[in-house]
Amino acid sequence: MVNLSTELLLLTGATATLVIYRLLSKPRVPIGFHLPPGPSPKPIIGNALDMPKYLEWETYAKYAKQYGNHNSISSKQTPFLPPPTGEIFYLDVFGTPLVFLNSRRIVHELFERRSSNYSDRTTFPMLVDLMGFDWSMAFQGYGEVWRRHRRAMHDKFHPSAVEAYKPIQIKHTRDLLCRLHKAPENFIEHIRHTAGAIIMEVGYGINIKSENDPYIHTAEEVMSAAGEAGVPGRFMVDMIPWMKYIPEWVPGASFKKQARIWRKYILDFADLPFEHANGTAQPSFTSAHLERLAATKDAPADAEQVIKNTAANIFAGGSDTVRLPITTDIRNFRHLMNFKRI
Ligand code: HEM
Repeated sequence: MVNLSTELLLLTGATATLVIYRLLSKPRVPIGFHLPPGPSPKPIIGNALDMPKYLEWETYAKYAKQYGNHNSISSKQTPFLPPPTGEIFYLDVFGTPLVFLNSRRIVHELFERRSSNYSDRTTFPMLVDLMGFDWSMAFQGYGEVWRRHRRAMHDKFHPSAVEAYKPIQIKHTRDLLCRLHKAPENFIEHIRHTAGAIIMEVGYGINIKSENDPYIHTAEEVMSAAGEAGVPGRFMVDMIPWMKYIPEWVPGASFKKQARIWRKYILDFADLPFEHANGTAQPSFTSAHLERLAATKDAPADAEQVIKNTAANIFAGGSDTVRLPITTDIRNFRHLMNFKRI
């Protein structure tokens, strides 16, 4: 049983560690160089209080206008893009440096033209270490692991390989048209179903249920968890990664409980359809990879894991991303039709 003095001791220890870490951490900026401008940091916590938790784009747009560096990179280097408008600003949150880019020009300049210097991803303690999103390529840094996932993906999704999925797409598009004809008012539901049905058949050879499918339910939970936890600044553990070791029962560590609840859906999302495809389902991305693996000598020990992860990426990448633009198009179209009638 944990008593109050243990809790106090832990909190005091954590605070002392943070203070010592901040005091001892060396300045990251070499002499003669400057950090981009931004709101003044406070001692120890830096700009933690300046980080928005909701409607973050509004605050970031304000910071860009207020602090953004207008002459960061010469516009002569990218003359075809519009001139800079408050392009780069900087926040330091508990020692984690965050650089914000606020124009298409600067994003192109740094991530395309100078990609060998700058193109990589940060770490995601909440999403990856605690919630279990290590299967997601969108959260993997640039390196051998990511390259192997990309290879597995490319193998079955390059332009001529995707021709094989056309019959599945045609079948489900016809089904969508029938559903729309019968109950047009439920168009959001129909599109959600079609996006899930296509990607589950392509990825795993699974035919989802016509209503209340458990895989689709898990996918919705996963997408909503990713949407919440993916907002920069929403969880302090992303700024102070060692917080992931704090036990769940410590006051203020409710993020651990939340991560545990979400983690179950995130692991099920990758595990359950893969187990199905590995056993009984019809031909698919997963079964084709597994067949080839079975015929490969000296495959790496984690080869099956890479297949499982990549299939989960297809499922995650191809459900909500497809549903949202189509429903938005139909909404806009309906709006336009009503407008014309008036
Ligand atoms: C309209 C539909 C789609 C949109 C708007 C969309 C958007 C995006 C964006 C913005 C990223 C970059 C994420 C990042 O780097 O942080 C991404 C990555 C990715 N998407 Fe999509 N996507 C769509 C459809 C799909 C489909 C259908 C699939 C799979 C069949 C897919 C699979 C992936 C994968 C695997 C990645 C990670 C790539 C990597 O990191 O190497 N996406 N998508």
